[in-house]
Amino acid sequence: GETQMKMLAEWLRDARQAVVFTGAGMSTESGLPDFRSAQSGIWQGKDPTQLASTQALRHNREGFAAFYRMRIEGLLACRPHEGHAILAEWERRGRIRGIITQNVDGFHQQAGSRNVAELHGNLGTLCCLACERTYPAARYLQPDGTVCDCGGFLRPTVVLFGEALPQAALAKASEWTEQADLFLVLGSSLVVSPANWFPQQAKAAGARLVIINREPTPLDDLADLVIGDALIGTVLKTVEAELSGY
Ligand code: NAD
Ligand code: APR
Repeated sequence: GETQMKMLAEWLRDARQAVVFTGAGMSTESGLPDFRSAQSGIWQGKDPTQLASTQALRHNREGFAAFYRMRIEGLLACRPHEGHAILAEWERRGRIRGIITQNVDGFHQQAGSRNVAELHGNLGTLCCLACERTYPAARYLQPDGTVCDCGGFLRPTVVLFGEALPQAALAKASEWTEQADLFLVLGSSLVVSPANWFPQQAKAAGARLVIINREPTPLDDLADLVIGDALIGTVLKTVEAELSGY
């Protein structure tokens, strides 16, 4: 409620190094469905390891391509919301060190954030399995969009289940987390490893842990503050109003 948001504003004001960690819940207010929300999540009735995995890439290319064509269509129809813009403004004001994101929509960068660690890659680009040439994701929506000029198969540059996460993003996220005294989780169910190690690493490093999420997460007991009764967009606007003193 309001009191919790006021407390969050105070903690942000006092923080020496605040780090933000986002999941799919950060982009639902932009119109992109998340993965595990009760009715609307993408994984409802689907097995992610059969679609967003190296196994699907090898043995179910039709299903893999159809799944990512649908995801790319959604991405191209949506844009960052005011919450993304507020986070970019907080970076400009030195309020947050950076954003660790599991999201592949690129909305943080599109809204102006510069320090972003993309743990699961980015859906905006395709690369060829054979020659490694890259293309904008929109190509997937064209006829034969999955075929590279060289004839190879094109895949989105996202981390699939079964793949390791990009070392550079992991290293950046670990460095920020080690030095954080405030760690703010926005819109993640925190059920996927290894991304969900970071909130735990922050707590172990002595940071205050705040979780803003519509549904309970496995790390709620570890958190110093949990806000589950308001959408992320509302929380960020209210906290920003507190910080700007109007
Ligand atoms: P995993 O449990 O196999 O972990 C991937 C590797 O990263 C492991 O080798 C682990 O040791 C390493 N690692 C992770 N965090 C680390 C850290 N903090 N420091 C050092 N090393 C670390 O992952 P998985 O279950 O096989 O899935 C791979 C990833 O793909 C998952 O994170 C999953 O969320 C992601 N994924 C992305 C999409 C998408 O659309 N972007 C879809 C499905 C899955
Ligand atoms: N405000 C607050 N919470 C929200 C909002 C919102 N507007 N919209 C959704 N949520 C919450 C949901 O209740 C849900 O618990 O955000 C959470 C999103 O969790 P998931 O759908 O599991 O998404 P995420 O945690 O990012 O998934 C992790 O799984 O499939 C892989 O790689 C994929 O990056 C993804 C990873």
